Amino acid sequence: MGSLWNKSLPKPGREFSWIVLITLVVALMSGCRGGTSVFPLKVFAIPGAQLAGTDQCSACHEDVAQRFKHSEHYRSLAVDEESSQRICESCHGAGSLHADKAAEERPETARFIFRENPDACFTCHLDIRARFSLPYRHPVSQGRVQCSSCHDIHGEKPTRRLWSSGQETCFQCHPEVRGPFVWEHEAVLEGCENCHFPHGSPRRKLLTQDGRNLCLKCHVTSGFPQIGTFNHRAALSATARCVDCHTRIHGSNFSRALLSQ
Ligand code: HEC
Ligand code: HEC
Ligand code: HEC
Ligand code: HEC
Ligand code: HEC
Ligand code: HEC
Ligand code: HEC
Ligand code: HEC
Repeated sequence: MGSLWNKSLPKPGREFSWIVLITLVVALMSGCRGGTSVFPLKVFAIPGAQLAGTDQCSACHEDVAQRFKHSEHYRSLAVDEESSQRICESCHGAGSLHADKAAEERPETARFIFRENPDACFTCHLDIRARFSLPYRHPVSQGRVQCSSCHDIHGEKPTRRLWSSGQETCFQCHPEVRGPFVWEHEAVLEGCENCHFPHGSPRRKLLTQDGRNLCLKCHVTSGFPQIGTFNHRAALSATARCVDCHTRIHGSNFSRALLSQ
């Protein structure tokens, strides 16, 4: 909030506070995200197609439309009649070609609607686009992973998946990380976010921190390089990374200390 005040302005009096308050309320009501308003909702462009409107979509996709009414997106975006009518097509793209009665007879016209395109999401989620532009990221732009691989978009629950259930999501594609192992690493049981970003990272393997820092935030001891019962003085050369030896970082069936053999 503090950043709203331009330092060169005089300290605001009561009248000025009201102006700021009203501006804020208007900004919030108009869905101001990072300075650009998304309202009225913009329909994601599809060549040759126009807005069909949510009423039309719902007529054929009643189950989806019903579920969607409980979602975070519906709550935040369907704020008035105009936006309610545009909301499906803000993600799926203008649907007139698809919604044409012909869709029932010729399902191939369904192709005119995007099943999923991260660019449609990025029109609003600029911060997430930035994450996916980092050097290491889940390959959504190449279509190998989709936003909906991890997020329940039409879901009744808030679309943000908590990591506890998110872990199950991760295991679908990374089964080798799933235990049970004879020797688990407690940090992994607590959650992948202890060490990985979900979207993108400046560091390899989507890691949240570099080298030893990643481990030492939890394993730091006053007697370093003594870690636990083992003195690492001989083990830790200037360049040695913890994972050079503790390679079975997600758990091991052979080594209590998660070593390679
Ligand atoms: C006249 C009925 C009808 C209307 C209106 C309609 N659809 Fe569809 N839709 C279909 C049919 C039929 C299919 C293809 C068969 C299926 O997967 O159910 C389909 C498929 C889809 C798909 C899946 C596409 C894919 O590649 O798997 C999406 C997304 C979709 N529709 C969204 C919408 C949206 C958004 C609207 C409103 C703009 C809309 N539909 C309006 C009948 C309709
Ligand atoms: C926030 C973006 C977003 C909005 C808003 C949205 N959808 Fe979707 N929809 C998606 C994504 C992503 C998928 C593909 C992943 C999936 O199946 O969950 C999808 C899939 C679909 C499908 C095909 C799969 C299925 O579940 O049957 C239909 C039909 C559909 N949407 C209809 C609609 C309708 C109708 C609305 C409006 C009431 C709507 N969508 C609003 C993002 C959205
Ligand atoms: C028209 C703008 C718009 C579009 C398009 C859009 N979103 Fe959102 N999204 C929002 C708003 C507004 C929220 C409410 C919470 C917030 O402000 O972050 C939200 C919330 C979310 C959340 C939950 C965040 C939280 O804090 O709980 C996820 C996940 C999400 N969107 C994913 C997607 C995906 C995936 C797509 C594309 C299929 C998409 N969104 C398309 C505007 C949009
Ligand atoms: C590999 C799984 C995965 C994929 C793929 C993914 N997300 Fe997420 N996303 C997450 C997780 C996990 C969180 C929760 C992060 C947290 O709470 O710390 C999250 C959080 C979010 C949020 C809430 C804001 C935030 O930064 O916490 C938004 C918005 C969002 N994702 C949008 C998207 C969009 C848009 C896409 C596709 C372009 C996408 N996500 C793809 C896992 C994923
Ligand atoms: C839909 C499948 C899918 C889901 C779900 C998924 N991932 Fe991934 N993940 C991938 C793909 C594909 C790659 C890229 C692998 C490559 O480039 O060889 C990847 C890469 C990674 C990498 C980097 C690996 C490397 O070799 O650079 C990490 C770490 C990772 N994912 C963690 C997660 C976490 C944590 C979750 C849950 C929040 C998750 N993944 C969910 C498919 C998925
Ligand atoms: C204690 C930190 C930590 C936690 C927690 C963690 N990881 Fe990792 N993970 C790593 C490190 C470090 C690497 C990279 C190892 C290396 O340098 O080769 C890695 C690599 C990966 C890779 C790449 C595969 C490979 O062998 O290179 C995937 C996929 C992955 N992690 C998924 C996950 C998933 C899913 C979770 C949650 C269930 C998770 N990780 C939890 C530290 C962690
Ligand atoms: C979020 C905190 C956290 C992070 C980050 C973390 N660990 Fe752990 N680790 C634990 C906890 C908790 C245990 C189990 C209790 C213990 O032995 O300290 C554990 C256990 C271990 C063990 C087995 C110790 C034993 O006696 O069984 C090794 C080896 C280990 N961690 C190495 C690492 C390495 C290497 C990294 C960095 C890639 C790392 N840890 C990152 C929390 C963490
Ligand atoms: C050159 C190899 C090597 C490197 C590098 C290394 N370790 Fe170890 N670590 C070991 C060995 C060997 C053990 C003892 C195994 C045993 O007790 O059987 C051990 C034991 C541990 C233990 C378990 C201690 C206990 O109480 O039993 C933890 C935790 C640990 N290391 C963390 C780390 C962390 C954090 C780093 C990075 C700062 C690191 N290690 C770097 C080889 C290494």
